[in-house]
Amino acid sequence: MTLTAQRKKSAEPIADGEFLFTAEDFQAIATTLDEATGIHLPDTKVSLVYSRLAKRLRALKIETFAEYRSLITSASGSEELTNMVNALTTNVTRFFREEHHFQHLKTVTLPPLLEQAKNGRRVRIWSAGCSNGSEPYSIAFCIMELLPDAASYDIKILASDIDDKILADARRAVYDSKFTAELPVELRNKYMRRLSRDSDEWQVSDEVKKLVSLRTLNLNGSWPVKGPFDIIFCRNVVIYFQEHTQQKIWTRFSNLLPSDGWLYIGHSERVSGPALDELGFDGATVYKKKK
Ligand SMILES: C[S@@+](CC[C@H](N)C(=O)[O-])C[C@H]1O[C@@H](n2cnc3c(N)ncnc32)[C@H](O)[C@@H]1O
Repeated sequence: MTLTAQRKKSAEPIADGEFLFTAEDFQAIATTLDEATGIHLPDTKVSLVYSRLAKRLRALKIETFAEYRSLITSASGSEELTNMVNALTTNVTRFFREEHHFQHLKTVTLPPLLEQAKNGRRVRIWSAGCSNGSEPYSIAFCIMELLPDAASYDIKILASDIDDKILADARRAVYDSKFTAELPVELRNKYMRRLSRDSDEWQVSDEVKKLVSLRTLNLNGSWPVKGPFDIIFCRNVVIYFQEHTQQKIWTRFSNLLPSDGWLYIGHSERVSGPALDELGFDGATVYKKKK
């Protein structure tokens, strides 16, 4: 039976497991998540939501989803709402994901900016929805390759995410072989150090970390950031949002870009709505702010 049909009998279970999980529970949680973060949960996510949140119910020793729903919408439930958001975000990422963006960055976008940085210009890059840091550190590696003493200039990458647990991983900047396998060995050896002799874990060097400032930021809330940004990466994030939320975010990004500023988005995303008047398509999922 589809969820739509089951909605009519909303007290019936819609997922197998130790806790009763009804269509009403799913809808209420989806609405709370959408309002808080912009993330839209389609009906196909029922099992995912159940399995990720069942862990929260166990941790809190809560016996029903009805009780859990009351908690996250109560005045004292903000901490658990954060835990719920952390549990429901999708953090899939890797170093140099969508390699063509980094080729473009190294050959088109960064060279003139770094030249200007040498003459004292401020250069700002934002990796919005940075997950465990693979994306902003990949950007930092590109900068270091072009300008080895980048840390002595006014160059900064702001890396933000709503999920403070994954940001803690980004802050630690330790990656096992699953992640480092995506990196050319020379880059790994140059910009990371092995945690111990027999370990397969590598930590990003302090020199690279210096370029990156990590911050919790909800793209669906206020943005306490100081623009303009010469380059914004927001890849594979708004794909989880509804069209109207995406359009608002594109406009807000556009407002933070100077003319000739760059926006990189994920492979299955497209800028839409009013921001298209200001952002020109400059190749696969790369946009340039018009003059
Ligand atoms: C699939 S990962 C993409 C990571 C990276 N940008 C990449 O392409 O590899 C999506 C990230 O967006 C974050 N995210 C989701 N909703 C968000 C929101 N409202 N504000 C900020 N970050 C959000 C998630 O926590 C997750 O880490």
